[in-house]
This record gives sequence, C-alpha cells and structure tokens, in this order.
Amino acid sequence: MDALVTNRGPLSRVLNLASNKSIGQGCAVKRIPIPTISAHQILVKVHAVALNPIDFISIDILAPRGSIIGCDYAGSVAPVGERALGQWKVGDRVAGFVYGGLYKDRGSFCRYLKVDADLAWRVPAGLSDGEAASYGVSAATAMLALTVYLGLPSLYEPPASASPNMLKDRSEGGGAILIYAGSTTVGLFAIQLARKIGYTVVTTASPHSFELVKQYGADSVFDYHSPTAAQDIIRSFPCITQALDCISKGPSTEFCARVMARNGGKVVTLLDQGKSKVEGVTYEYLVCFTMFGEKFAWFPPVGPAFPVVASRREALAGFYANLPSLVGYVKPPPLLVLGTGFEKILEGLDELRAGKVSGRKLIVKLE
Ligand SMILES: NC(=O)c1ccc[n+]([C@@H]2O[C@H](COP(=O)([O-])OP(=O)(O)OC[C@H]3O[C@@H](n4cnc5c(N)ncnc54)[C@H](OP(=O)(O)O)[C@@H]3O)[C@@H](O)[C@H]2O)c1
Repeated sequence: MDALVTNRGPLSRVLNLASNKSIGQGCAVKRIPIPTISAHQILVKVHAVALNPIDFISIDILAPRGSIIGCDYAGSVAPVGERALGQWKVGDRVAGFVYGGLYKDRGSFCRYLKVDADLAWRVPAGLSDGEAASYGVSAATAMLALTVYLGLPSLYEPPASASPNMLKDRSEGGGAILIYAGSTTVGLFAIQLARKIGYTVVTTASPHSFELVKQYGADSVFDYHSPTAAQDIIRSFPCITQALDCISKGPSTEFCARVMARNGGKVVTLLDQGKSKVEGVTYEYLVCFTMFGEKFAWFPPVGPAFPVVASRREALAGFYANLPSLVGYVKPPPLLVLGTGFEKILEGLDELRAGKVSGRKLIVKLE
C-alpha cells in the first residue's frame, strides 16, 4: 500500500530540534506492506484523515526513520481479528486515532491502518468522514486532560449528579475552569466537554476567535494578548483552581498559574513546562500517546520514556465507546477540506508548521 513514511536520521532530527526549523523533506510516499492484525485488532481502510501539529513535529523531530506518519482517521472496517468479531464487522464506519510517527506498521497517512478494536469508535449516520476524523488526537487529549489529569466528574452522567461540590462552588463564583487557547482544536473540544460536565468555561483567544469559542460554549473569553487579561480573569472568576493550557508556549502556562495564585491549583500542559514558580500551583504534562497502553520513548536512551498507565487506556476506550451518543453535545471543530491525496497532506502540514491555521481542523481525503 502507499503510505507517508519518514526518512530522517537522528542527526537531522536533532538539528531541527536545535534550530526550530524543518530542514529538507522529512517524509515521502512509499510502498509498504499492508499491516497484519492480531486477534483483538481491526484493519481500517482509510477514507479521510485530520492533520495535527504532532504530525509535523514527528516528521521534523520525533519520528525514527521508516515510521508511518499520521494519527487521526475515519474509514471502514476491513478484516476483523477473531476476538473483535462481536464488536465490528467488515464495512462498519469507524474513526479514531493511532500513534503515527513511531512504528513501521502503524499510522494513519496510508491506505490501511491497524488499531485495537476497543480504541476506535463507531461513526453514526449523519457524520461525514472528515467530521468523524476530527475526533482524534484533539478530542481524546481534551477528554484525558479534563477527566483523568484534572479529575473532573464523569462525562457520561448528567451534571446534576456529577459533583455536589462543583455545583456549590459555582454559586460562589467558582465551578469555573480555565481553558487557555480555546480556539485551538484541543480547546474547542475541551470547552464543549467541560460544559457537558457542567463547568463554567473561561477561555482565552485572539479577538478574531471570540465568536468561535462562544459558539462552542465558552461562558467568558479574554484576549490573551492583553497585559491585563490574567487580572481581568481573577476579578471575574476568583476561585479557579483548574486549567488546561491548550498551547503551552511562551507565557501561556505561567499565565494560567497566575490566575490561580490565590487558591493554588493545577495546570495541565501539552508541552513540558517544567515546574511552576507560583506557590501552590502544579503543572502536569500530558502526552496523548500514553492512551494506547504501550510504553514508548523519544530519542532513546537519552530522551524521555513513557511507561504504561492503564487508566489512560481505559479512559480512551470509555470515551470512544460513549462518543456516538456524545456527538450531539460535542460537535466537530470547523473543518477545512484540502482535497484528496498525500500531496494535500504535505501542503496542509506546511500550513500548520507555518502557524497559519486558526480555529480550523484540516482534513484530507484518501478515497
Ligand atoms: N501533548 C499532547 O499530547 C498534545 C496533544 C494535542 C495537541 N498538542 C499540542 O497542543 C497545541 C494545540 O494543538 P491543536 O491541534 O489544538 O492546535 P491548532 O488548532 O492548530 O491551534 C491553532 C490555534 O492556536 C492558537 N495560538 C497559536 N499561538 C498561540 C499562542 N502563542 N498563545 C495562545 N494561542 C495561540 C491560535 O489562536 P488564535 O487565532 O485565537 O490566536 C490558533 O487558533 C499544539 O502545540 C499541539 O502540538 C499536544
């Protein structure tokens, strides 16, 4: 089958890391074998993929030579492993995300991918392939951050029974969560999920994204460029103790910590931000690929290693099992369908790399 496969050696990846550049072409379309599935996996014929910043970060820096790139997908079930036969049948519509950028036989920018049968979700009628593909890395990351890292109540129960404390706090001006960079696609999912759980959502965005984040359910939005934004949030929402920093760049995480300086709290970050300098505030770094229940490492043996944490895999399986009934509350981000074929994926990744994408999920069709 055709697949987008990386071709960088370690030196080129380290150079890119050091220079914050993407030197040369880091991947190409190659003919590789169709993956073989185990008893608990399904093979998926890929119809559409969604693009994420991690895709170009993998190509430029993280992925060993020969890895298939791409995480988010939607498609149809091809062969089903014998232990997954009760769950799936050939032709079912399916979507999800895989760890693209590490393995020679796993990734979504290809014709066929393999995935554990319980880590994919059944696409309901009425949702296009592009829409379905957009519930991958971004949606799962938002879910993991809120329900596991920040310990918000269950997504799958009505808010009233979820947490009496939360509802009490809300009447005292609390019950609010800060979603920093709400117009990222992680942010748009986080806003909706936090609202579904019953939280008041405070977010930051550029003024051109204010309407967008409100459409997705933000209760209050502040311009992160404003020098008074953190103080303005504290004045209106003095009890915030939980934040998800959906960008984790520049001053963003420190901004979240300042908002929580009075009461202390926790900020979940999507890039490693080290330790907080604000007393009582902790940072916790989330890596979405830990949801697959397999250990892995970046730049071994010197880089970080990620052990198996079973609860994260369970969270993803639970999310995808429940997602068909959640899509009424949690809509896809605005989509921009770039066209069909691997060349369109490369064009889209260049747009993401250049920081030109705002408030949109880029989609490419492969069928
Ligand atoms: N660790 C993980 O497992 C994990 C998982 C998913 C994503 N991520 C990371 O999370 C980030 C967001 O991913 P995404 O796919 O949601 O991104 P995205 O949708 O491509 O993000 C685009 C948005 O970022 C906002 N933005 C750009 N620079 C900003 C800054 N300096 N401060 C605040 N906002 C800024 C822009 O908002 P405005 O136009 O409103 O300014 C724009 O709408 C990426 O860095 C990605 O690599 C990490």
